[in-house]
Amino acid sequence: MSNEPISLQAALKTFDELWSPRIVARINDYDVRVTKVAGDYVWHVHENTDEFFLVIDGELGIGLRDGEPGEERDVILPAGSAFVVPKGVYHKPFSDGGASIVVIEPAGQPTTGDRHEDIPDHIRTHTGLELT
Ligand code: NI
Repeated sequence: MSNEPISLQAALKTFDELWSPRIVARINDYDVRVTKVAGDYVWHVHENTDEFFLVIDGELGIGLRDGEPGEERDVILPAGSAFVVPKGVYHKPFSDGGASIVVIEPAGQPTTGDRHEDIPDHIRTHTGLELT
């Protein structure tokens, strides 16, 4: 981890893989991760932690199951917007046009949560990769 200022744009230039966050900073027990996204992620839930999203470039949507059983809604986050998915809420990030985002959550938290729907081939589960 660096003790110098971090350029998020420079960090984003070090990789092309989608839905595969890189850890750019740690705050106490939390990781700050940058990720490139496009298309649909998978429905998943973090049972014991909230998850913070901040959109740097592009537009991110997040499907949420936080209403009545069987109901879903989308929140749309243009660049510069932030949103917190509360713990225990099933969510599915998506981005039709692609986006670069910051996610903050406890270190060691798997990207696909504690429970998830079937994971397609283009999505890898991990807990954030170190910047190279
Ligand atoms: Ni999540």
